[in-house]
Amino acid sequence: MEKKCRKILEKYYKEEGNVISILQDMQEEFGYIPDDAVYWCANELNIPASNFFGVATFYSQFHLKPRGRYIITACCGTACHVKGADPIIHRMRADLALAEGETTTSDTNFTLESVACIGACSMAPVVKVNKRIYGNVTPDRATELIDEFNNEKGK
Ligand code: FES
Repeated sequence: MEKKCRKILEKYYKEEGNVISILQDMQEEFGYIPDDAVYWCANELNIPASNFFGVATFYSQFHLKPRGRYIITACCGTACHVKGADPIIHRMRADLALAEGETTTSDTNFTLESVACIGACSMAPVVKVNKRIYGNVTPDRATELIDEFNNEKGK
């Protein structure tokens, strides 16, 4: 961790006000913002860790917990809601055995999130897995997708 953080900071030592850039690099490197990395960088830069945490909690692009290898984004926008987004989300939560309030599976293979609109309303209901969009999804298709990605991860 220290080696990776040092490499990130080398880019920013001479410039001030790069908290966002450092956080972006951390997230790129680790997949999320680890507490240890924040405290290490804050100590190196001699600034309060709260400077990092304040920014990281303000912007939704930053994640303070590990996220899944597969990020499933279920659309809850109006078009998707009308065409059955709720049963799809309910099915995926059950398939992934996510407890109330959890978004990432215990093995960190999947993270299930929702958004207001993916911008593909004509294909509603829509689910995105990482960068790929799936349209006209049904609860059964959602289960198939999870099975497909579960099988893929073993390869
Ligand atoms: S409402 Fe779901 S893609 Fe727009």
